[in-house]
Amino acid sequence: MVDIHTHVLPDYDDGPPNVDSTREMLQMAVRSGTTELVATPHILNNGDYRREKEIRQKFQLVKKLIEEQGYDLKLYLGSEVYLYPDTTLDHSISTLNNNKKYALVEFSLRTIPEFVPQKIFNWILDGYSIIIAHPERNLLLEKNPFYLFRFAQMGALLQLNSGSLTGVFGRKVKELSIRMIDHNLVHFIASDGHGVEGRSISMLPAYEIVEKRWGIEKARLLFEVNPRKAILGQEIKKAEPIPIEEKSVFARFGQWIKRLRSAD
Ligand SMILES: [Fe+2]
Repeated sequence: MVDIHTHVLPDYDDGPPNVDSTREMLQMAVRSGTTELVATPHILNNGDYRREKEIRQKFQLVKKLIEEQGYDLKLYLGSEVYLYPDTTLDHSISTLNNNKKYALVEFSLRTIPEFVPQKIFNWILDGYSIIIAHPERNLLLEKNPFYLFRFAQMGALLQLNSGSLTGVFGRKVKELSIRMIDHNLVHFIASDGHGVEGRSISMLPAYEIVEKRWGIEKARLLFEVNPRKAILGQEIKKAEPIPIEEKSVFARFGQWIKRLRSAD
């Protein structure tokens, strides 16, 4: 499997606190079948790009750890860029493997800031392939899944977290994740691994779910074929996105009754 979203650099962000924890993560990744991974440290604002030297040093250190352990694991560098109106993608760590094409971006988990769709669309017009990290964890998108279709329709690529499918973020996120795959609204599954528990770097349980429910072709596409193309900067084939309908009138009526009752 090929993992395009991980936090493996030691003592950099909210990933592993030290080299030993990084070593544990690498071991887990290899044992669970990951053969290529991209280190994507958080870039929380343009100022963080000034830490590029530090990021590169830590990246080299992780590379050395992999060599020392003799792991069959290819490591690449990228970042997870948090969107602000002035965020730029013109640094060598802004895109995966510095391919000047695929950028992994995130924004608030609570809402969709007003500038975000336009900013993403402008980048797409500029020739970038914009990968939105874990949209299934966004509260607004969870309530209005139709917007997921809108993002896909305008050319954005959607990356699901493996933990979302295994229930790490709760039942609702899991259900939405399943609907997203059913509606061709997932282009990549990645670990967003921060450690060996919780947001774990192992993607194997999620891979098994996808293989069982949608078949091996789909599993390979989302865990291997598309992610590898993203690293290499190659175009991926996209299946036609299908809109997720809003909940039925009956379901909405039920929610309304429930709210009235809880207001008593
Ligand atoms: Fe992340």
